[in-house]
Amino acid sequence: MFTNVIVRKPGQSMVNGITTANLGKPDYEKALKQHDNYVEALKQCGVNVTVLEADEKYPDSCFVEDTALLTKKCAVITNPGAGSRKGEEKEIHEVLKGFYDNIEVIKEPGTIEGGDIMMVGDHFYIGLSARTNKEGAEQMIEYLQKYGYTGSTVPFEKFLHLKTGVSYLEHNNLLATGEFIDHPMFKDFNIIEISEEESYAANCIWVNDYVLVPKGFDEAKNAIAEAGYRIIEVDVSEFRKLDGGLSCLSLRF
Ligand code: GLY
Repeated sequence: MFTNVIVRKPGQSMVNGITTANLGKPDYEKALKQHDNYVEALKQCGVNVTVLEADEKYPDSCFVEDTALLTKKCAVITNPGAGSRKGEEKEIHEVLKGFYDNIEVIKEPGTIEGGDIMMVGDHFYIGLSARTNKEGAEQMIEYLQKYGYTGSTVPFEKFLHLKTGVSYLEHNNLLATGEFIDHPMFKDFNIIEISEEESYAANCIWVNDYVLVPKGFDEAKNAIAEAGYRIIEVDVSEFRKLDGGLSCLSLRF
């Protein structure tokens, strides 16, 4: 169960965020409303939500998930692989001092972003991507082992982050699209398959037996509902324009 969530409001500079989506610039006012609705959806799942003010210095800083890995026993501050995002993690480090006694820090030349880390119980899958390198993953696994956890790396080709294409919904259920549907590392999970047309919906978040699903992906929504989850649909169209999904917008612990 999660009890806490940290989010950061988008700043006006979000219109200059990194993107490959080809969906145009986000509408800032609309993004703010969508962000408020996202926070309300999280509160409905029974968590306390800490809302940080926008940080205009970093256009992508609303995607807080990338700045840390939060577990029951420790927090690990990441080192983002995207040049324009380096530094976002420093303020999150300060915030996390209010929640954690054990805080570790990933160091150069290691880079890693939280979007590449998927927690499955006490095991953490770490995607090797353009943002997360081998050194970053190795440092992360070493920290995890120090606290009694395990980690393994997942090679993949087509996605920005590991969790762009795969999401763990607890109960051995894994939402997967594209190359992750038949990925040998995930063969023991019950795969809930997401079609290529709805691949954006492979990034959902489980929060206390609710699943937050992006609005507008009915096939995915129905498949998740059939697996027995309570669904909350959240419109995140403006964040999608920056390659961001539901998980990217929060740190859950
Ligand atoms: N725009 C989100 C990211 O690229 O990190």
